[in-house]
Amino acid sequence: MTPKARIAIEEADVVVGYGTYIKLIQDITRRDTEIVSGTMGKEVERAKIAVKKANENNKVVMVSSGDPGIYGMAGIVLEVAEQEKTRIPIEIIPGITAASAASAILGAPLISDFAVISLSDLLTPLEKIEKRIELASQADMSIVLYNPQSQGRIEPLIKAYEIMIKHIHPDTLVGIVKQAGRKGQQAKITTLKNLLDEEIDMVTTIVIGNSETKLINNKMVTARGYNLTN
Ligand SMILES: C[S@@+](CC[C@H](N)C(=O)[O-])C[C@H]1O[C@@H](n2cnc3c(N)ncnc32)[C@H](O)[C@@H]1O
Repeated sequence: MTPKARIAIEEADVVVGYGTYIKLIQDITRRDTEIVSGTMGKEVERAKIAVKKANENNKVVMVSSGDPGIYGMAGIVLEVAEQEKTRIPIEIIPGITAASAASAILGAPLISDFAVISLSDLLTPLEKIEKRIELASQADMSIVLYNPQSQGRIEPLIKAYEIMIKHIHPDTLVGIVKQAGRKGQQAKITTLKNLLDEEIDMVTTIVIGNSETKLINNKMVTARGYNLTN
């Protein structure tokens, strides 16, 4: 979270968000702030409530994890506000996305070009996800995988692995970060060939290095091409 996001939460009349995130910010929400806590899959409903409360002259904060504009709630709030023809000003406050948080924990794997791909096929067809993985794998860029797996949804990760292993060297370094920046944070560096042996859950971000990514003092570092002898 950035200081600006924290101030916005502290100053809010109403805070709307997914229950897990509401719990994470409970120490900084004011006692007199109205809290609207929702469940997974009810994003449109939450956006509608937020816009309605804002139309009633409240200062409303819609919380997302990480950055609200990266697989977060920013888009849906803007869409709903437009649909409701509201003129309320909307500010998107950037946050620290899982890719940045995971990268910092692992070392510096994203120092050069990289692709960010979500493996969630709830809103994106699996064929499209597979095509994105295929093209990114061919381009020798680091790849960050969001939403790699959840209970009962393991097929996209297996498919992604099968595509990546065709184009990317099996010994390429892979970083696996769970609960980045939260209680229970865990990180591990392995290789692509061992990716499917790892325990991966919904709060995991996977970073696949490129052909220049190496291990330096237990950190995953992608060389950018600087000449260190000068
Ligand atoms: C719906 S996306 C939300 C991303 C979020 N808006 C962001 O910018 O980080 C959820 C996915 O983000 C990643 N993620 C979110 N928070 C994380 C954390 N604290 N540690 C590791 N991965 C995280 C996981 O891949 C998770 O499945």
